Amino acid sequence: MEINPEIKARLEKLQEKYAAMGQDMASYLDGLLYADFLTYWDYIHLDTLLSLQTPKTPFPDEEIFILYHQITELYFKLVLHECKQIADKKDIDKAFFEARLKRIINYFEALTQSFSIMVDGMEKEQFLQFRMSLLPASGFQSGQYRMIEIYATDFINLIAQDEREKLKSESLELQYRQIYWKYGATELSSGKQTLTLKQFEQKYSASFLTLAQSVKETNLWQVFLQFKAKETDVTSLQNLLRRFDVLVNVNWPLAHYKSAVKYLNREPEEIKATGGTNWQKYLPPRFQKRIFYPELWHEIEQLEWGKAWVAEVLHSQTQEN
Ligand code: HEM
Repeated sequence: MEINPEIKARLEKLQEKYAAMGQDMASYLDGLLYADFLTYWDYIHLDTLLSLQTPKTPFPDEEIFILYHQITELYFKLVLHECKQIADKKDIDKAFFEARLKRIINYFEALTQSFSIMVDGMEKEQFLQFRMSLLPASGFQSGQYRMIEIYATDFINLIAQDEREKLKSESLELQYRQIYWKYGATELSSGKQTLTLKQFEQKYSASFLTLAQSVKETNLWQVFLQFKAKETDVTSLQNLLRRFDVLVNVNWPLAHYKSAVKYLNREPEEIKATGGTNWQKYLPPRFQKRIFYPELWHEIEQLEWGKAWVAEVLHSQTQEN
């Protein structure tokens, strides 16, 4: 076989690479000789992935419930991947920030639009039976969902509304004691913290606080402020952050709430949620008024938060831009 100049140049580069690490290139070439060709299924660990759906009951629709939660968690992972890229980037430029924000928005759009898979995709009677085998687990315990929130904004915006003013100069630890989600997780009957919440905190509280500390200066809002301080034109960034705010804090919660209403509403009395929350009062965005970027919204928009028109207005606005 003729070793043409191109191959020779590559071999020389390889030789340099291995020599720099004190390694023998020939042994590595032997390795290549015997290595298997990569397959699609090995590369993406397909068999493992498809073995991760293990229903607790014989109801066929439980598998849909598991799969859609897993799909959502994978999308959350995509969102977090972009948040990390933004937070870790040294000397971040506007184009990089903007491109990543657009990716994040795309993921959340996909999640919001696909929620009908949950809403229309299971038989209510099956759901109502298999859900009792899942107690006290709840989507409420999605740690990735809360990590996205921590990356998105200053921690103080995740504190219960009534407590914010008094805690704004306190430590993250003190603020965390009044984090908004604790207020949702009280037992309907006794008023005590739910087991769902206790287990969630035991698993995640330390990592939430570590993350909040590490992104104090690099969460999406702080990165935005850096551009603003440099007097860059931030109109496009501002629009993207507003879009993201509506998606995470209105559109997705509304799509999700719709599924709770479909499966848990049964006149005259609502059905108790697996996490034990007073879900009718906790889940609707118009009650929670979670807003990542209050500075980017007019007072009236904040007052009307979670009511349909906010999303509609914003949608027509982004179409115009
Ligand atoms: C039939 C479908 C669903 C129903 C009936 C439902 C119901 C509920 C209820 C009642 C809550 C309040 C907490 C509790 O008491 O358990 C909740 C919270 C939550 N669920 Fe779901 N859920 C569904 C699907 C999903 C899916 C697919 C996800 C994706 C991961 C998800 C993620 C969450 C999250 C993140 C929360 C916390 C929301 C917050 O704190 O504002 N849920 N869900």
